[in-house]
Amino acid sequence: MSKPEFIDLHSHFVFGLDDGARDLDETLAMVDQAASLNIKQLLATPHATDLTDDVFSDQLLRRFRFVKSEIEKAGIPVKLSLAAELFFSKRILEWFHYPWTTFDNNLRYLLFELPLYDLPDDVGDLIFQCRLKGITPILAHPERYVYLHDKLSKLYTWFQQGCLIQINAGSVTGQFGASIQNVALNLIKGRFVHFIASDAHETERRSYKTLIEARSELRRIVDEETLDALFYANPKKALNGETIKSGEVKDDFFAPRSEQLKRWVKFIKRRLFS
Ligand SMILES: [Fe+2]
Repeated sequence: MSKPEFIDLHSHFVFGLDDGARDLDETLAMVDQAASLNIKQLLATPHATDLTDDVFSDQLLRRFRFVKSEIEKAGIPVKLSLAAELFFSKRILEWFHYPWTTFDNNLRYLLFELPLYDLPDDVGDLIFQCRLKGITPILAHPERYVYLHDKLSKLYTWFQQGCLIQINAGSVTGQFGASIQNVALNLIKGRFVHFIASDAHETERRSYKTLIEARSELRRIVDEETLDALFYANPKKALNGETIKSGEVKDDFFAPRSEQLKRWVKFIKRRLFS
């Protein structure tokens, strides 16, 4: 079987803008690692906070162009695109004139994150406003927001509004603990998830290697077609501004455990006695 290809929609390889790569050497090491793992395209997603202004935007654009030319000079065969990881704020709606708000400025997809510890009130409103503009928001790593773990119906509401879901590869491999891993795997099994991305910050622990590890881990629970969609085909569509079909969430995803158990008992009885 040929080596799987990847397109990564979320990582912090552009140096000096956030908590990702610290200098050009680290940027080059990260992108070189991505190339060696058969990652064909990287979307730069530096953190954009609600302090975003023209100065930040100019710095981001200049730094990305510089990094791109250095990577071309070094002959590393990875295609680079630009966006940002937009920290949740009503101000996101004021940023659409910046060419990094949507993926490669395609005005179709953007990546946003929520605060790690508090659920904001008006996430649904932001999703609605984006959809009015024809933009599909992608929520970064919902499994990492522990406050959502017992409120997955919130996530379902956003999903129904047209928000797509990106899970971190490190969550799948257990890098952030068992409960986050559990939620990540359940969301994938429940067909909630559209993308798996590295959220790489460096070349060791939070690196592109987690993508490869997550893909092989997931072979236990999903088929090859789904793996290709999660790690390659859907990211490619998002970068090209093409429509991504949302799968049907499994019917019993929100059924209480007792209901799920009853269904299993019924299923087993039928298999044994029919
Ligand atoms: Fe990130």
